[in-house]
Amino acid sequence: MDEQSKPIIRDHVPLNRLKGKIALVTGTARPRGVGNSVAKLFAQEGAKVVLTDIDDRVWDCVKALQDARFEVLGFKTDLTKPKEVQEMAEKIVDRFGRIDILCNVAGKSVPPRPPCLEMSVEYWDMVMDRNLRTTFNCCKAVLPYMVKQKYGKVINVGSPTGPITVYRYCAAYAASKGAVMALTKALALEMGEFNIAVNTILPGDIDTADKPWTPKDGPRDLSIFSKHLRPPISRPAMAEEIADLALFLATEESRFITGTEILIDGGLMIVEPVPMGPT
Ligand SMILES: NC(=O)c1ccc[n+]([C@@H]2O[C@H](COP(=O)([O-])OP(=O)(O)OC[C@H]3O[C@@H](n4cnc5c(N)ncnc54)[C@H](O)[C@@H]3O)[C@@H](O)[C@H]2O)c1
Repeated sequence: MDEQSKPIIRDHVPLNRLKGKIALVTGTARPRGVGNSVAKLFAQEGAKVVLTDIDDRVWDCVKALQDARFEVLGFKTDLTKPKEVQEMAEKIVDRFGRIDILCNVAGKSVPPRPPCLEMSVEYWDMVMDRNLRTTFNCCKAVLPYMVKQKYGKVINVGSPTGPITVYRYCAAYAASKGAVMALTKALALEMGEFNIAVNTILPGDIDTADKPWTPKDGPRDLSIFSKHLRPPISRPAMAEEIADLALFLATEESRFITGTEILIDGGLMIVEPVPMGPT
């Protein structure tokens, strides 16, 4: 079983919860990434899905879904470029007539993650562009159609890093994800009267096959505290689990939820960072 087809045949009973909906999902190129999983789940649930990414591998996911007989459309787009995003939105509406769901997944924490005082403005701009500008551009291009149709679900992917916690050398990423959450709230307030919900998902660590970050800089040997610091669910999330939450926020079951953020971290954030009990 290859990585592309795996989530299509995951143990999931489709209930057609997105039947007739048109969904745009960004950041869909990486085979084990969140956007890829969201696109596949939304298609399984009956949506016509538009996949977009700056990376050519977006076409692999488009093909996998088309081979599985789902009606999907692909765009290779640099989402930091407003004109490209605007043109993509116009083409989607030309083809499908509307856009009901926008799931902004594109983004990421980008190494080398310099200390704040050594950070170049170029690095700062790159991280803000990738996480915040992409989200803003997509909202700006898609929301006018949602306003016209008086319906929409916008799901932004943030991070607890920034809104809740920080780690060393995450300043740009934390600021960008904090801003995504703030943008979500501001948009939710402006869009409520048009029956458009805007929410943020805050995922903890996700197993998307990237090398995990290992703290080397602490003065204490944290391993002696591992028993106390272990979260209730001691594993990273699967991308499919983040997709399940995105699906909930895309359906009518979440109709009274807007302007908020939902943490999905296996309970990681409830653990006190400084263990007080016996070791
Ligand atoms: N992986 C984690 O542990 C984790 C934890 C918390 C939050 N997140 C957030 O979840 C989201 C997805 O993470 P992931 O691990 O699946 O990452 P990923 O690398 O699979 O997905 C990000 C995608 O965004 C695309 N992208 C980046 N810049 C773009 C641009 N300018 N135009 C178009 N596409 C662009 C990339 O090509 C990539 O395919 C990100 O927003 C990330 O910040 C991830």
